[in-house]
Amino acid sequence: MNHETIEKNVGLLGVLVAIVISIGGLAEIIPLMMQPVASEPTPGVEPYTATQLEGRDIYIREGCYVCHSQMIRPFRAETERYGQYSLAGETVYDHPFQFGSKRTGPDLARVGGRYTDEWHRVHLINPRDLVPESNMPGFPWLEERVVDETATPVKMERLRMVGVPYTDAQIAAASAEVQGKTEMEVLIAYLQGLGIAVSRK
Ligand code: HEC
Repeated sequence: MNHETIEKNVGLLGVLVAIVISIGGLAEIIPLMMQPVASEPTPGVEPYTATQLEGRDIYIREGCYVCHSQMIRPFRAETERYGQYSLAGETVYDHPFQFGSKRTGPDLARVGGRYTDEWHRVHLINPRDLVPESNMPGFPWLEERVVDETATPVKMERLRMVGVPYTDAQIAAASAEVQGKTEMEVLIAYLQGLGIAVSRK
């Protein structure tokens, strides 16, 4: 088959291009899947507590990931601002991961412990009370809404199906742990846990 035949046949060209790109992709992806550093949790990284898990769902529901990434890249400008770059093993329990693709606001991969709970509460109700030039929207309703504790164990069971090692005891205790907590409380618990397994070392 000479080059001209391929170039004049769009369908064939498309198929061959797809094959070539797949080989390149597989050569990069498969070895990474075999490496423990990418598939095992980084030491200190634990599955989310029931409270943090509910907070994570609020983070997703409110679209925080649209403006915030959770992925510190291995460049000096990033590590000086945010700390140790993100490791693959830090996100093994994230389904789906929250890497994000746009930074209207700062990266949050290591925001855990950077501010007090009260700072987050005031900031989430109205960011401009703390950062006058902020264009982040306020989320005041999080203070008024309470988490549905009946859904928590089901979420944990589903996560266990995809490999998060929750024990039966953790799942049984989940509803009681989140019962009566506001969406604000659980979201802050989630934020305060971000990245600390590595940044506290
Ligand atoms: C429209 C874009 C936008 C959305 C949506 C958004 N933020 Fe922000 N966020 C920002 C900007 C801009 C800043 C920087 C100014 C500030 O601190 O308010 C920021 C700052 C922050 C900070 C402080 C980070 C630091 O290191 O100083 C936290 C924490 C935060 N946001 C959490 C959240 C959470 C949680 C949500 C979802 C409930 C959210 N943001 C939604 C734009 C956004």
